[in-house]
Amino acid sequence: MKSKKHLPLAFYSAILLSIAGCKPYSAVAQNTSVSVSASSEEQMYRPNFHFTPKKGWMNDPNGMFYADGYYHLFYQYYPEKSVWGPMHWGHAISKDLIKWEEQPIALYPDKDKYIFSGSAVVDRYNTSGLATGKKAPIVAIYTLHDMTKEKEGKIDVEQQDIAYSNNNGFTWQKFEEGNPVVKNPGIRDFRDPKVTWDETHKQWIMVLAAQDRAQFYTSENLKKWEYLSEFGKNIGAHGGVWECPYFFQIKVEGTNETKWVLIQNLNPGGANGGSGTQYFIGDFDGKTFTLDINFAKRVEAEKAVWLDYGKDNYAGVTWNNIPSADGRRLFIGWMSNWDYAQQVPTNAWRSSTTIAREIQLIKKGENYSLVSNPVKEINKYVSKTIKGKSVKGKGKISIPEAGKIDLTQAIVSFNLKNLKQDTYNFTLANAVGESLTFGINNSDHYLFVDRSKSGKNDFSEKFASTITKAALEGNQKEGVFKIILDKTSIEIFYNNGEKVITEIFFSNQPFTSLSVSSNEGIELSNLVINQLNIN
Ligand code: FRU
Repeated sequence: MKSKKHLPLAFYSAILLSIAGCKPYSAVAQNTSVSVSASSEEQMYRPNFHFTPKKGWMNDPNGMFYADGYYHLFYQYYPEKSVWGPMHWGHAISKDLIKWEEQPIALYPDKDKYIFSGSAVVDRYNTSGLATGKKAPIVAIYTLHDMTKEKEGKIDVEQQDIAYSNNNGFTWQKFEEGNPVVKNPGIRDFRDPKVTWDETHKQWIMVLAAQDRAQFYTSENLKKWEYLSEFGKNIGAHGGVWECPYFFQIKVEGTNETKWVLIQNLNPGGANGGSGTQYFIGDFDGKTFTLDINFAKRVEAEKAVWLDYGKDNYAGVTWNNIPSADGRRLFIGWMSNWDYAQQVPTNAWRSSTTIAREIQLIKKGENYSLVSNPVKEINKYVSKTIKGKSVKGKGKISIPEAGKIDLTQAIVSFNLKNLKQDTYNFTLANAVGESLTFGINNSDHYLFVDRSKSGKNDFSEKFASTITKAALEGNQKEGVFKIILDKTSIEIFYNNGEKVITEIFFSNQPFTSLSVSSNEGIELSNLVINQLNIN
């Protein structure tokens, strides 16, 4: 049942500070004043092709699966305000991962029992026995967060429950008689169960976040779960609470070798502050996840390995049940950060998802790593392509081709050659003097985004106080950029997705020009600007 009760803000703030790894809810909840009118807010800030709910608050993507021609996306949702509140699972569907249609809410909280993050699987062989007809049931596994217990200062506020659907996820029943399927063992942060089918060991595997580590459970029927092992204490980044893990097996590109990947979100403590997504690569014997030896060295050296270095890709998960003929590992994240998500200058709704991405595992020498790139489906929305001239020269050089298209929905790609020990600043600018700068610092070896002059940024001290950096391995001789722009977001895929930066911004007018500046000189080629038109 939908809860109509609104608790005082101070109550939410106190609760939220404790449950959510110190998310600064108190500071945010009050801030709903913005200086743009509702219509200009829609026009200026509603993304063209990144999913946003029509109204209300959204955070983590949840329960994604594919069935009968549709990609299903569920998400943490509070329909009544554009700040975090009693959590529901919102629902959207897409035939191509780009154009989304919002659906009726999938799961409502009961009184103050909130439906937190989780996953959903297509139970093809009805292992759960929850089918009512011939169709495979869809089983959602999520955290039930009990606010009454929370209020009473109890520890065991989070447990794992299931719900099921016999019509491909359009309507759901909670599994009242059998919940919880995993009881709280006395751990304060015990949430975000992500389930996948482990084809190698023929079992359902659940990974969930237990404070500072991931725990693994096994099941034959999605209803009875047995604890297997844990991973992560003192490994990788631990600047905040571990949340939203995800665990899957993946082939090394171009081989038949497989590895296991643990995606592990944490907040705060991300690569550039606040919320962030790290990952680990290793092996799984059906019980225990062991880090690959070279990957372990990399984690040791870099402290953590990040899926995205931007401030705005959090709680991302991948789709279950992608047909084997397709075989891609498809990912989507929440394009915001708990540091300021509730303060961003939109009133009617808050937050969007990232663009859907294909994740691949590559091996160079003995080293494994993940690369992510926008799904190829985006290309079918290209309405116009402008190929640019090569650019060579020093100082500030304008890229006039960029002025010929609408940069609020575009893909910009180019290659850089003969890079020197220099900084290459690319600047998107508008008529009111605002700009967003990104590029490569090849003296100190990092990719960066600087949104400090990109428009509205005074809604949070943390939004633009630091430049976002992604360390690059040594001197770059050349670089390949693919950049996706959609009104309020930039997603940079560098060197075919080896390094990714995702960031949001709120300019007062659209950016209409692109220029580049360098001291030593730049050599830019293969400039392609694709206009997108997603109607
Ligand atoms: C991550 C998170 C999850 C939790 C959900 C609550 O952003 O804190 O751990 O399940 O949000 O909305």
